[in-house]
Amino acid sequence: MGFKRVRFNNFRNIEPREMRWSPGLNLLTGENGSGKTNILEGINIISGWGPLDRGTKTLSIPSWNSGSTEVQLTGELESSEIIKVKISRRYAIRIDDKASSASELRWKIPVLTFLPDDMSIVEGSSVFRRRLLDMVLALIIPPYAMRLSEYRRGVRQKALFLKRGMPSMIADRALLPLASWIWRMREEGVALLADSLGGFEQLAPFGIGLSLKRGGAGFERDCADDYAKALVVNGERERAMRFPVVGPHRDDIIITSQSRPASSALSRGLRRRTAMALMLAASESVRRKLGREPVLLLDEVAAELDPAGKEQLFSTLHARGGQIFAATAEPISPEVPCAVYKISSGKIDKIEEKV
Ligand SMILES: Nc1ncnc2c1ncn2[C@@H]1O[C@H](COP(=O)(O)OP(=O)(O)OP(=O)(O)O)[C@@H](O)[C@H]1O
Ligand SMILES: [Mg+2]
Repeated sequence: MGFKRVRFNNFRNIEPREMRWSPGLNLLTGENGSGKTNILEGINIISGWGPLDRGTKTLSIPSWNSGSTEVQLTGELESSEIIKVKISRRYAIRIDDKASSASELRWKIPVLTFLPDDMSIVEGSSVFRRRLLDMVLALIIPPYAMRLSEYRRGVRQKALFLKRGMPSMIADRALLPLASWIWRMREEGVALLADSLGGFEQLAPFGIGLSLKRGGAGFERDCADDYAKALVVNGERERAMRFPVVGPHRDDIIITSQSRPASSALSRGLRRRTAMALMLAASESVRRKLGREPVLLLDEVAAELDPAGKEQLFSTLHARGGQIFAATAEPISPEVPCAVYKISSGKIDKIEEKV
């Protein structure tokens, strides 16, 4: 399942032309600033995930200087269904001309996106590790995304109480069932990822282990008991810091290599390989649960791999099957079948079809 064609109308610097895509690997090449990440972002939006978080303030999505503030993305799936996303003051999503929602879209066309920052998943902030897990869980457990945002709203509410020096019992009571449910789902998610990772030992043969570290907790096995106990243990700290320190918003995934912390045990290049293996494990986890290969959007993810690592990556991607959009500013020419596109100032040209 993937996109047969996508048309971008008034979207960033991308020319308004219908593009046909290969059902396999689509390699987007081009200079810095040509529009590769914009194309990935367009596909991310038309799959129900919204604009990419590029770590900078998101500038306006409609093309500058066009005079119009309305953006339209149109895509045809391999199933021949037509998806339309119109962005003006709000999002309007239609599938085969019927009003639809972002969650329905994500269910219809599972997509996983990996940005350059995700390559520091092993040594970087816990935000990247939670993002990977949440992306997988949002695809395989329909109510997950909604419950997570409900939980986050509750945490913001609690933070407000703590900031004002007010008791937070009401927020804690509302958060307990959500927090313990999210912990249960995340623990299952980590186990699934760890299991799927076993299939990518060629890429990361370093005995990688994964486990969930519950935020501010870990006193009891049962999630609800643990949350309640952690609140008692950390109550004073939360009041002193005026910030909630207990709960899934402070979770981490502990990554080890032969039982040592992978962040210090592995070299930079080997950490990049581990990041790639985790990304493929995420994709495999989704496939196992949904019975469909998710579409992968990869932005500059092969940048720091050595030539052997790159070949290993592309041959693993090829063996996986399914549709992939991979952006690269480096001239790479993998030994596997792929369609190569050249992007220049938002103009997309197919330059090669390797079979
Ligand atoms: N709303 C917009 N209208 C027109 N152009 C835009 C808009 N938003 C962003 N751009 C331009 O799109 C250009 C291409 O951005 P993009 O991030 O896709 O480049 P890239 O090919 O991924 O580059 P890099 O190799 O550096 O990652 C940016 O330089 C920016 O000036
Ligand atoms: Mg880019």
